[in-house]
Amino acid sequence: MPHKTRQRTRLTDRPFIIVNMAMSADGKIAAPDSGFSRFGSPRDTANLYRIRQGADGILSGSETIRLEQATLTTDRDSPKRNARQKPLRILATGRGTLSTKTPFFQVSGPPILILTTRRIGPKRFAAYQDYAAGIFVSESRSIDWSSALKWLRQRWHIRTLVCEGGATLNQSLFRLNYVDELNLTLCPLIIGGKSSPTIATGTPFPSLQEAAPFQLIRRRVVNRECFLTYRRLPVATAAQGPQK
Ligand SMILES: NC(=O)c1ccc[n+]([C@@H]2O[C@H](COP(=O)([O-])OP(=O)(O)OC[C@H]3O[C@@H](n4cnc5c(N)ncnc54)[C@H](OP(=O)(O)O)[C@@H]3O)[C@@H](O)[C@H]2O)c1
Repeated sequence: MPHKTRQRTRLTDRPFIIVNMAMSADGKIAAPDSGFSRFGSPRDTANLYRIRQGADGILSGSETIRLEQATLTTDRDSPKRNARQKPLRILATGRGTLSTKTPFFQVSGPPILILTTRRIGPKRFAAYQDYAAGIFVSESRSIDWSSALKWLRQRWHIRTLVCEGGATLNQSLFRLNYVDELNLTLCPLIIGGKSSPTIATGTPFPSLQEAAPFQLIRRRVVNRECFLTYRRLPVATAAQGPQK
């Protein structure tokens, strides 16, 4: 029988969430100026596409989409595949800062969903309506994840959601213990810099006891990179500090 943590939990009120990131050996995901965040090998890119293809939705924050000119498409997108409408491409933006002129909106690909808040201006909201199949507006200042994820699961039938960062978006999901699986590609380089982002910035956990606990369930070394998969553990597990 497979190890229990390898099985994906059946969730009905939200998708199963996978965070997928490439990280340097010193734990950074980009330089301070948000430069050179694409430092993974072609094998890492192939892995990213494989994970995308297994998902019903791909989620990213507005900064990542803007800086990386990301489209959140897969390498198998074709008119035929688009007709299947998966994986949906999902933008997280509190204020609607991402222009509709960016490739994310301009490429042809699976439908777009937008998660936003009451802070979005009416003009940008109207512009987004021309491109998005659905827009979820939280009444709060930041995205109400419980309701937004329920909307994705129940209205759009998203069972598996891949979150591709960046750091701010990741941490808002880690903070709520909504990240079920973490895929990290450990890349053999040092980026350095105190202000270079890690996989999770934003508001930290208030104490070690509350920090999100994970268990390493798989590791693979391919050429110079290490592909790591972690599964979320129940929160109380974090309270068990090192034995002294
Ligand atoms: N190495 C890797 O694998 C990898 C992967 C992805 C990204 N990156 C790097 O990560 C950096 C970007 O990370 P980042 O932290 O600056 O930006 P981010 O998380 O991509 O985007 C932040 C923006 O997303 C929106 N957002 C995120 N969480 C929200 C929430 N809970 N409620 C409302 N809005 C929310 C807000 O948009 P608005 O401002 O529009 O309101 C916020 O300003 C870049 O350097 C990128 O290259 C690296």
